[in-house]
Amino acid sequence: MGIVLGVDVGTSGTKAIAMNAEGELLASALVEYPLHTPKPNWAEQDPADWAKAAYTALAELASKIDASDVKGIGLTGQMHGSVFLDGDNHVIRPALLWCDQRTTAQCDYITETVGEAQLIEMVSNPALTGFTAPKILWLRDNEPENYARVKKVLLPKDYIRLLLTGEFATDVADASGTLLFDVKNRCWHTELMGLLGIDSSFMPPSFEGPEITGTLSTEAAEKTGLPMGIPVVAGGGDQAANGVGCGIVRSGIISSSLGTSGVVFAFADDVSTDPLGRVHTFCHSVPGKWHVMGVMLSAGGSLRWYRDALCQADIERGKAEGKDPYEYITAEAADIPIGSEGLVFLPYLTGERTPHKDPDAKGAFIGLSLRHTKAHMSRSVLEGVSFGMRDSLEIMRGMGVPVGEVRCSGGGARSPLWRQMLADTGNAPMVTINVDEGPAYGAAILASVAAGLYKTVEEGCDNIIKEVSRLEANKVAAAAYDPWFAEYQACYGALAPRFKAMGGLLG
Ligand code: XUL
Repeated sequence: MGIVLGVDVGTSGTKAIAMNAEGELLASALVEYPLHTPKPNWAEQDPADWAKAAYTALAELASKIDASDVKGIGLTGQMHGSVFLDGDNHVIRPALLWCDQRTTAQCDYITETVGEAQLIEMVSNPALTGFTAPKILWLRDNEPENYARVKKVLLPKDYIRLLLTGEFATDVADASGTLLFDVKNRCWHTELMGLLGIDSSFMPPSFEGPEITGTLSTEAAEKTGLPMGIPVVAGGGDQAANGVGCGIVRSGIISSSLGTSGVVFAFADDVSTDPLGRVHTFCHSVPGKWHVMGVMLSAGGSLRWYRDALCQADIERGKAEGKDPYEYITAEAADIPIGSEGLVFLPYLTGERTPHKDPDAKGAFIGLSLRHTKAHMSRSVLEGVSFGMRDSLEIMRGMGVPVGEVRCSGGGARSPLWRQMLADTGNAPMVTINVDEGPAYGAAILASVAAGLYKTVEEGCDNIIKEVSRLEANKVAAAAYDPWFAEYQACYGALAPRFKAMGGLLG
């Protein structure tokens, strides 16, 4: 027997799950907390809220399972966030989150100091506002009295690790998103830290995902009701852990997750970077492996915006008939031909990361005519998001990352029409699997390896994760989408300067 736990320190809440050696979910608990935006472009959270939530979620699990049988705990969480600690391990100020956009000046400074190509050569990624290094420099530039007190900088889940075990540690996947990690060689890039004037002692030792970084302390055991001494493994950043939870542990297997954002995540045997920095290249939670990731900011978010802004009748009808309004939207979209009879939707409602590193990008319907109905708009939104996901796949193919099958997860994957559209636009089979528990599940799989339930992460995934459905790409449809994909790409190129100019008008 044996139970393992996974804890995900997410953006909306902390989720903890317990599973047995067969991967069966035994219990789960979710404790939510707020996100603060004290100024435009700022996104912060109080690490004390994460701590309270983690203790509460673990205590809830402990009360639902045989706690004496817990063999390991895996940690995962939102990436890139910065927890600044003083010499007594006290939190100096609220943590800056992955979605905080205040660091444009610091990103420019990093790029100018190091050079974009050299930066990608050193840490495999360009400077993005969400990453950790620019957050550290922002503190130095804007709150020097706070910066003077910093002794350690931890990622969100690693602050929880400190509270659970008393140890400073991180994992190679999460460390990759700091912009201070040598992704190729899987260690901190002390030379880059020197160039940027960041003290290398700020960062904790790094470990591979299934490695043990400490054990549950007496104090944490008292707070959670779990026995002391349970091994706590390094775990992974939420995307890498989610990759493990979807079985993305072999070359050729990709995941496509359609939540508010859309993430295309590919396994890689070797480190491979996009010279233009359009996709992220990070270490994977599978030891000695990497992953490449494209992040669309408004995927499911575009459809939700469309539903709320333009589909009131569907919402009302759904209420009356007890149905999900997305069912009517996808049903009417199914009756419209490929290309939405010349209507193109750009899904950049909150700017974009992949393929355009463009915070000024905007959404658009292009090509409207009297012929177009709401059903055309419904299809066009689904097509626009699918084309955005294809952009990531195309960049990956260009980098030589094999695209065999794509495993779909997230709310958007529930629609068979959308899954078929993703298969046809992306020209790859779309597969669904038996679990959709997110990053916490992957973290528990990593813990199961340390606990000796499985020899390797791959073996754990092979035993636990099974294919449930498969849709092949329809070659005729795929060919029919191609010219519309080209128009979609060209529309952004034509409109990008206008988006920037219009953003300037708004101030
Ligand atoms: C990954 C990213 C998000 C956060 C929050 O690069 O920014 O996935 O980790 O979930």
